[in-house]
Amino acid sequence: MAASRRDVNYDESKVPAYTLPDPLILNNGEPVTDSQTWYSRRRPEILELFKTHVYGKVPGPPTRFYYEIFEEDSNALDGRAVRKQVWISFTGDSSGPGMEMLIYLPKEADQPVPFFLGLNFHGNHSIHSDPKIKLPDSWMRPKEGVVDNRATEAGRGLSSDRWPVELILSRGYGLGTVYYGDIDPDYHDGFQNGVHPLFYREGQTEPESDEWGAIGAWAWGLSRALDYCEKDSQIDAKRVSVMGHSRLGKTALWAGALDERFALVISNNSGCGGAALSRRRFGETVEIINNAFPHWFCRNFRQYNGREDELPVDQHMLIALIAPRPVYVASAEEDLWADPRGEFLSALGADPVYRLLGTDGLAATEMPPVNQPVHSRIGYHIRTGKHAVTEYDWRQYLDFADRHLSAE
Ligand code: GCU
Repeated sequence: MAASRRDVNYDESKVPAYTLPDPLILNNGEPVTDSQTWYSRRRPEILELFKTHVYGKVPGPPTRFYYEIFEEDSNALDGRAVRKQVWISFTGDSSGPGMEMLIYLPKEADQPVPFFLGLNFHGNHSIHSDPKIKLPDSWMRPKEGVVDNRATEAGRGLSSDRWPVELILSRGYGLGTVYYGDIDPDYHDGFQNGVHPLFYREGQTEPESDEWGAIGAWAWGLSRALDYCEKDSQIDAKRVSVMGHSRLGKTALWAGALDERFALVISNNSGCGGAALSRRRFGETVEIINNAFPHWFCRNFRQYNGREDELPVDQHMLIALIAPRPVYVASAEEDLWADPRGEFLSALGADPVYRLLGTDGLAATEMPPVNQPVHSRIGYHIRTGKHAVTEYDWRQYLDFADRHLSAE
């Protein structure tokens, strides 16, 4: 019978013995001892392994870039912010399809601002009670504030506890967000909706076994949002931090690995298929995630259901792909489903690559106590509480970005 939530291991003593693949050994067995070999040979190898076996290959950017700022107010949020709402085409065609990006910038900024970018789960209007945020037109997950899979006014501001907009602005950062369902609705329809069909070859009806699923599509969308940042003179596109929670934390890591323009990457409680090591089989496993969410990864990933030791990579190598850029892995004490220890060990497993590239890596060899963040080039914290994004988490990300992204 297929593994399900009932078979989950939460007992550390039952974690099987495992050996992680070494990020600093080439596929042919030779060691990587200098940064040049990392960049020219090992990093491309690892990226290819993740594309082929885990998330699938992702298309490049559209050949033309088209966007429209359809709403702008330089006196938003009681005069504290500039708000922009931008429509970004997926294909470069002005007729669409595309996605909507909501942007807040600190009003008093006199130079381009560093920026946080993240996808949201429940529509741009869910992140703040601001009445001017446009309701999404796309498919919405059933929940409060949603009728017949359409957004309603009742959803406005419902996720604002996850998005401390005023705090972010007060620290001198801008914030941009896109509803992930604009890019690909989060249910399995054989990849008929969302961005996938836009890239099918003649006659193709679904992605190949080594082509992108939904996580790949959402990551691709984040890169299109970053394309927009590069066009906006009020945003410092060289200081964009990509942040995501849970499935969108998995997405933020993959986006940061694929697109080296992201200056800093934040994984909030991303768990299995995100920061957590697959080989530990603690909490959610490869088999459980592939059964519950068959559309998230590429089909090849299913070969590793119950066979994690055969994976040519593990998730510490995903973090290593972000090196030497700053990366932050955050766990929550009660979020055992996401395997906090596995998230920490994955950050630790990327440390040798960061050190090879001349940074301080992760300044901890043991998991730190709760609420004692480590802000070295690989950042980590485990906070008290549940699977969520809290103001505590954001305060760490702001401090971490202040430390690692100061203007050159
Ligand atoms: C489920 C899933 C997780 C995922 C989470 C989320 O719990 O099993 O892998 O991270 O949803 O995205 O909220």
